[in-house]
Amino acid sequence: MALDYAILPARLGDLLAVHALEHRCFDRDAWGWFDLFSVLVANVVRLKAVTPTKLGQGGARLVGFVVGDPRPSQGFAWIATIGVHPDFQRRGLGAALLAAAEAQLTEPRLRLTVRRSNAAAIALYEKFGYRTVTVWERYYAGGEAGLVMEKPHGAG
Ligand SMILES: CC(C)(COP(=O)(O)OP(=O)(O)OC[C@H]1O[C@@H](n2cnc3c(N)ncnc32)[C@H](O)[C@@H]1OP(=O)(O)O)[C@@H](O)C(=O)NCCC(=O)NCCS
Repeated sequence: MALDYAILPARLGDLLAVHALEHRCFDRDAWGWFDLFSVLVANVVRLKAVTPTKLGQGGARLVGFVVGDPRPSQGFAWIATIGVHPDFQRRGLGAALLAAAEAQLTEPRLRLTVRRSNAAAIALYEKFGYRTVTVWERYYAGGEAGLVMEKPHGAG
């Protein structure tokens, strides 16, 4: 059955839910309270994926989050974070969030970093047209390398 969801702007009121999601998605790479607070008030693209809760419970559950950080003076924007709750992965939410963030960014190039071992994310990014342009050795906690992936805006 198709997943019922919406992609909406994320706001400061989403801080608790985004923090919980980060820890489910990223483990030791999860952003802390300060970084999440900063990004939820900054002039960046920040979007959430929400699904309706069970009938009669009202509200909506935040199950995905993406941040696009524009750097106009440098000619590119960073996809700074993207995560989908494990219970909702492989149902199109990651692709929907990434597409929605890209659509709101206007810089000519888009960049991101990803752990070399993160096959799921790398597959998503390659599907969207990102290609590895450099490797940052020992970039992540634990010493793993980060792939820097990039694409011209609109490619993929
Ligand atoms: C990466 C992530 C955001 C993908 O979200 P998702 O909602 O599962 O992705 P989608 O269902 O939209 O998948 C889109 C495409 O990405 C690729 N993909 C996603 N997950 C994959 C996996 N586990 N294995 C292989 N390919 C995968 C596929 O090409 C997929 O298309 P398909 O389902 O038609 O084959 C999700 O796995 C996640 O949150 N991971 C933990 C956090 C993380 O690592 N974020 C990235 C940090 S750089």
